[in-house]
Amino acid sequence: TLRRTTIVTAAACLALAGGTVAVAASPVTGLHPTPGGTWAGDPYFPALGATGYDALTYHLDLDYEPVDASSGTLDATSTMTFRATKTLSSFNLDLRGLEVSSVRVNGLRATFTHVDGELIVTPRLPLLARLPVVVTVEYGGTTGRPRDIEDSLYGWVSTADGAMVVNEPDGAPTWFPVNDDPNDKAIYTFRITVPEGKTAVANGLPIGQPRTRDGKTTFRWFEPSPMASYLTTASIGDFDITTTRTEDGLPIIDAIDRDVTAANRTTSEASLAKQADMIAFFSEHFGPYPFTSAGAIVDDDTVGYALETQSRAVYSRVASEGTVAHEIAHQWYGNTVSPHRWADIWLNEGFATYAAWMWGEHTGGQTVEARAAAVYATPATSPFWSTVVADPGATGLFASAVYSRGALTLHELQQEIGEDDFAALLKAWPKERRNATGSTSDFIALAERISGQDLGAFFDAWVYTGTKPTTW
Ligand code: ARG
Ligand code: ZN
Repeated sequence: TLRRTTIVTAAACLALAGGTVAVAASPVTGLHPTPGGTWAGDPYFPALGATGYDALTYHLDLDYEPVDASSGTLDATSTMTFRATKTLSSFNLDLRGLEVSSVRVNGLRATFTHVDGELIVTPRLPLLARLPVVVTVEYGGTTGRPRDIEDSLYGWVSTADGAMVVNEPDGAPTWFPVNDDPNDKAIYTFRITVPEGKTAVANGLPIGQPRTRDGKTTFRWFEPSPMASYLTTASIGDFDITTTRTEDGLPIIDAIDRDVTAANRTTSEASLAKQADMIAFFSEHFGPYPFTSAGAIVDDDTVGYALETQSRAVYSRVASEGTVAHEIAHQWYGNTVSPHRWADIWLNEGFATYAAWMWGEHTGGQTVEARAAAVYATPATSPFWSTVVADPGATGLFASAVYSRGALTLHELQQEIGEDDFAALLKAWPKERRNATGSTSDFIALAERISGQDLGAFFDAWVYTGTKPTTW
C-alpha cells in the first residue's frame, strides 16, 4: 500500500541521512533484519570475509610513523561504502591486531564488538536490503611484523624506513577493516601521511602532488579498477620514483627504495626497463592490459618474496627479470580474474609461471617446451607430485608444484587441445571474468567450451590427483 511504501521510503531516507527512527519497533513489518554472516565461505580460512553486503569502495586515510626497525604506529580512518544484500541488523569486517575507537554507520555512532579479528558492528537502524551504506571506522595501534599460516611475513610489515605491504592471502586485515574475500572486489582510494622525507606508494595513479605540512607529507593514490583486498598496497620508504610510459601511453610508475643495495638496484632497474616490452608481449597473447597504470615497488630483503599487488607489484631485495615477467603476467591471471576460492591459486601461479616461460623463450632463453620437460623429469617418487594442485591446502598455497606443475599443466593442455584453441583460451579467461573471480571448474568448463572436448580425465590427472600423471 501507499502508506507502507511511504514509511519504508521515509525510513530509508532517514537511515541514509543519518536521522533516527525506531524502525524495528515501528509498524513496518516484513523487514526482518538479520545479522550478516561472519565468513565468506572459503574452507581454507574459516573466519575470513563476511556475507550480507557487497563492498563498493574503500577510502583508507592512514597516518604512519616508523618507531624502530620493525615497528611503527598507525593512526587511521577507513571510510567504506557497501550495498546490503539483505536487510541487516549487524554486519562484520575483518581487522586483526589494531584497536577500533569508533564506528559510524551512515553518520550515526554504532556499537561494535571486536574479538579475534572480527569487528561486528550493530547500527542503530537496520540496513535495508539493496541500499548503500557508509561505514567510518577510526582505528590504529602499533604495527609490527605479522606472519601468515606458513610463517611468511605479510600484511603491514614494518621496515627500518617505513613499511612493505603485501597481503596474500589474508593479510589485508592487519591494516584495514575489510571484507577479506577476493569475490568482493571494490574501488580503492588512499590518503597516506608519513614523516616528511618519506614516500608512500599505493596501487594505481597518484592524485595531485604530495603536500607537506608540520613535518608530515600526504600522498594520495587511486586505483580505478575493482581490486581484491589481498592485492592492495600502501608501502612506505625512502623511495626514488620514476615515471615512464609505454608506447600506448600507459604510465609505468616505479619506486625503488634507497636501502636496496647498489648491485640489486642495477639488476632491478634493468628488469624494470623491460616492463613496457613485457606488457606489449603479454597483451598480444592475453589481450589488452587490464589496468590503467603499471610499475613496481622495490624494497629491501625484509619479506623475501614478490607480490603482484594490483597494477604495481612489490619486490623484496631485487626485481629479477623472470620475477618481473611473472608479476606482470599476474595482472591478467590473478588480478583481473582472481581465485574464487584459495584452492584455485594454481590458476594464478601456474599461469604466471607459464607466462614467464613464454617471456624467456621470446627473449632467446630456454623454450617453454624445455622448461616443461624439466618439470616433467622430476621422478615420480618425488614428494613434488603429491601436491594436489587444485586443492593444495591452506599451508600449501605456495608449494612449488602449484607454480611449476600448474605451468606444466597448461603446457600439456596446449598439446591436448591444440595451439589455436589454447591461444583463444589464454585470452578468453581474463576477458570473460574481467574484474571478477573464477574457479578451477569454471576454467575447465571454458577450456571444454572452446575446444569442444571432454577434458575431465585430463584435469583429474593433472590438477586433482597427487601423483605424477602418465605422459599425454
Ligand atoms: N603470489 C606471489 C607470487 O608468486 C607469492 C606470494 C607469497 N606469499 C606468501 N605469503 N608466502 O608472485
Ligand atoms: Zn605468482
